Amino acid sequence: MTNTTIPITNITAANAPDVLVTHARTHTNIAVLVSGRGSNLQAIIDNIENGYLESANISVVISDIADAYALERAKKHGIDAIFVDPKSFTNKTEYEQELVKILDSYNTDLIVLAGYMRIVGKDMISAYKNKILNIHPTLLPSFPGLHSHKQTLDYGVKVSGCTVHFVDEGMDTGPIILQSCVPVFENDTEDTLSQRILEQEHKIYPQAVKLFIEGKLKVDGRIVRVSK
Ligand code: GRF
Repeated sequence: MTNTTIPITNITAANAPDVLVTHARTHTNIAVLVSGRGSNLQAIIDNIENGYLESANISVVISDIADAYALERAKKHGIDAIFVDPKSFTNKTEYEQELVKILDSYNTDLIVLAGYMRIVGKDMISAYKNKILNIHPTLLPSFPGLHSHKQTLDYGVKVSGCTVHFVDEGMDTGPIILQSCVPVFENDTEDTLSQRILEQEHKIYPQAVKLFIEGKLKVDGRIVRVSK
């Protein structure tokens, strides 16, 4: 028996492959949604280019902000960069229908939110169930939502960090994939703390993407089981 690709209609017991290949795509098509500077986008681009994410391909970067620097980063690397103006749609559903149309047209396998400052609606979540990742700069479930570094400093915690999670309909509430910790110092400002956390973000986001691509993540209710 071989592992060559056989049109699914021609398979018989005699020529059945060991592993049934139903499509010949060798790369995972990633769409990255952004609103700002795009340093996490850059970390993923760098890890594709250095071979760590060798079977990944960023097929499109979509921004809801016209002058997001992330769009420039994408163009510099030859990646399609699209601005979709939410204000040109009558409501969120229509805006997200357009996004889904674009995502589908790029045969998207995985959506990575990288500083995308909108809550994803239920239609998009159900179109891409368990295929949307987000990163948040705290140890969730602590300090979800906006101004997370300020929330962290104001609360006085001694340890913070970042979290990569699947996206559900809540705000930063989806099942957790990876987390990384950093210390919080008494003289920290939002800037110093965010820099320390960002370094960790740039490590664990590519790691989480790799686990997804390799099929090692299984969502079991709230729990993400990571296989070796
Ligand atoms: C990061 O801190 C990320 O955790 C949060 O938004 C910020 C985006 O930064 N969701 P960048 O645009 O990736 O540089």
